[in-house]
Amino acid sequence: MTYARIAGIGSFLPEKVVTNKDLEKMIDTSDEWIQERTGIKRRHIASEGETTSSIGLAAARRAIADAAIEPGDIDLIIVGTTTPDKIFPSTACIIQRQLGVRGCPAFDVQAVCSGFIYALDLANRFIKTGGARTALVIGAETLSRITNWDDRGTAVLFGDGAGCVVLQASDKPGIVSTHIHADGEYEELLQVRYGVSVGYDKTQAGQAFIEMNGNAVFKRAVETFDKIARETMADLDGAVGDIDWFVPHQANMRIITAAAKKLGMPMERVIATVDEHANTSSASIPLALDQAVRDGRIKRGDTVMFAAFGAGFTWGSAVVKY
Ligand code: ACO
Repeated sequence: MTYARIAGIGSFLPEKVVTNKDLEKMIDTSDEWIQERTGIKRRHIASEGETTSSIGLAAARRAIADAAIEPGDIDLIIVGTTTPDKIFPSTACIIQRQLGVRGCPAFDVQAVCSGFIYALDLANRFIKTGGARTALVIGAETLSRITNWDDRGTAVLFGDGAGCVVLQASDKPGIVSTHIHADGEYEELLQVRYGVSVGYDKTQAGQAFIEMNGNAVFKRAVETFDKIARETMADLDGAVGDIDWFVPHQANMRIITAAAKKLGMPMERVIATVDEHANTSSASIPLALDQAVRDGRIKRGDTVMFAAFGAGFTWGSAVVKY
């Protein structure tokens, strides 16, 4: 049997940091409120000239070095992003060109905060069915470009960043299971209402911003993590003890704590980076994974569970033998 194994990992954060104290000078908020309601202390923000592809490329180069492969070995590139550089070509094609790779399939997946899980699920299917042997799976976002910096309900929540894993075909696990889901009923609760086909608000040109009903999204997120926990337990025959580490999407510390509780995971085995990164959407899981691998918590052979929830709504999970 062929499995997809994580052969390398890398991440990248823009140098510019915006703290809660910085936000206090811009909007009617406080460091205390943000930390208490979200757990966020600071976020990295792309500077002018930095793009989703440039930070995604930086993460990809680090993952390629970590896996000790050459760009020429790559035969699939999938980028999870909701903030692509351009309408087209895809961010995956832009990164492919920068890496000097030619010919292999390269495409973006738009599943908002579940983007990395969707991309991982797809790459896993390619590898298991012989469609690829060495895949780059990238989550990269410049959410600051669709954040309304005058709206305190959303401005405090988001950040920019990128993470990447190299997946390689192997006869040993590997990705053990993946699940991806969507329910389009809740479009209005979390959206950017303008876009290519519906058009833009001509009186506020360019103002395509994240809009969110925070309370309703919070409730749905917690309920959905319960569903994710049940589905994953079924895979593992109910033995959550087999999971060494839980790496959830990093939206809000209160959602992460609730999700860990649903799973029965003690917080010592939960990777949380939301304090330092805020919500980086599809980049948040590979960023958190990379940090925990670098600081020595997650080791080769550990079983790691990823879970995400985002606009759409979309959600999903993956269990991986690292
Ligand atoms: N600073 C200070 N006060 C604020 C701020 C702020 N930044 N934002 C809101 N408030 C105020 C409100 O106006 C309200 O005041 P009032 O009681 O006088 O009316 C009070 O704080 C409480 O507001 P709530 O919205 O009820 O606060 P809540 O505890 O729900 O926290 C939050 C808000 C953090 C947004 C929370 O609802 C949340 O995390 N929601 C989920 C977000 C999320 O997970 N998104 C995930 C997906 S993102 C994606 O897919 C791109």
